[in-house]
Amino acid sequence: METTDAFIGLTCVDCGETFDAETATHRCPDCGGILDPDYDYDDIELSREDLAARRFDTMWRYEELLPFTRESAVSMAEGATALVDCPSLAEEMGVGRVLIKDEGRNPTGTFKDRGQSAAVTAAVQHGATDVALNSAGNAGQAAAAYAARAGLDSHVFLPTRAGFTNKAMVNVHGGDMTVVEGRIGDAAAAYEDAMADEDWYSVRTFETPYRHEGKKTMLYELVEQNDWAVPDAVVYPTGGGVGLVGMHKAATELQELGLVDDGPAMYAAQAEGCAPIVEAFEAGRDAHEPWETPDTICGGIEIPDPGASPLVLDALRESGGGAVATSDEDILDAAVAVAQQAGVEMGATCAATASGAWELSRQGAFDEDDTVVLLNTGAGNKDDDILRSHLMSKGI
Ligand SMILES: Cc1ncc(COP(=O)(O)O)c(C=O)c1O
Ligand SMILES: [Zn+2]
Repeated sequence: METTDAFIGLTCVDCGETFDAETATHRCPDCGGILDPDYDYDDIELSREDLAARRFDTMWRYEELLPFTRESAVSMAEGATALVDCPSLAEEMGVGRVLIKDEGRNPTGTFKDRGQSAAVTAAVQHGATDVALNSAGNAGQAAAAYAARAGLDSHVFLPTRAGFTNKAMVNVHGGDMTVVEGRIGDAAAAYEDAMADEDWYSVRTFETPYRHEGKKTMLYELVEQNDWAVPDAVVYPTGGGVGLVGMHKAATELQELGLVDDGPAMYAAQAEGCAPIVEAFEAGRDAHEPWETPDTICGGIEIPDPGASPLVLDALRESGGGAVATSDEDILDAAVAVAQQAGVEMGATCAATASGAWELSRQGAFDEDDTVVLLNTGAGNKDDDILRSHLMSKGI
């Protein structure tokens, strides 16, 4: 494998055992726990100046902190997305600054590209010919794109609820698509059935150790783009919480390397129709309880049984953040408000962040001079039909 110098291997978050990344490819061989890439941070020499001297061109510019070399990466210049200052939103929320990290500017229009770039790179290094996953939609599209780029076949299981763009683009990338009646759990069941008979390489969330690892780069970028001033709060639209766990790890790493002194407070934003993380956070529990009847128009965060909830809840509590749920109506209103007041196009799922931040500001979670970063995880035009229909529901 073409791994980077400081990458030691994979450590199980449950039993603490460390494994060689060459042989351990997915979950912990001993206990089935999630594996997390581990580094010898003393071996990493990386200063603010080193980074300033590099072009801001792709997430792989942080290669010392990633498992694979930039040269070996299956990459389409993902990451290096804009951080957009939104003074009108800051004024409304009564905070110093609101910055939107605009992940809509990725190759397939969402932050899923970061995770798939890393996961498909691992698949190639492990000699896979086929990758497979179930997905709410965006990750499936990203996997089909990165598999195509790497010359691999992709098998994508989506629920009927997945967006039209996602389904269409899986076809366009030449992916093998199975659309399953129902929701994400139904797509997962069909995927698991197929995997029992096939020798496909999983690029499913927290099954491969590399998706949260790719997504952690969002935090490196937004800190560096903010001239190394750590924002007070980061608000994230949370389904499985992959990006949130990754970003919390990244904040810890930047402190380990002496590049910053502290991390931001991390906030999970969910939809009221599916908010197992918010419920567990508010009840003071260490893990979620599955949400019985998930129902939200925000498909990306309609995740009723987020398996990594202990990691997500740890990240929220360790960072001094929190969790907030808002209604679909408020979320879609927020997407429209951001588009009209700040110009930035937010996807429906992504707008849970804006709606959640508004609610947090009403609850007094932020100070008047705080810098608040909103993760816009995907492009508004992936959900243009949902957003336009929302206007129609108001007679517009
Ligand atoms: C646009 C968008 N935002 C957020 C999420 C949730 O991501 P995570 O699993 O990291 O919580 C998804 C997942 O499908 C998504 O597509
Ligand atoms: Zn283990």
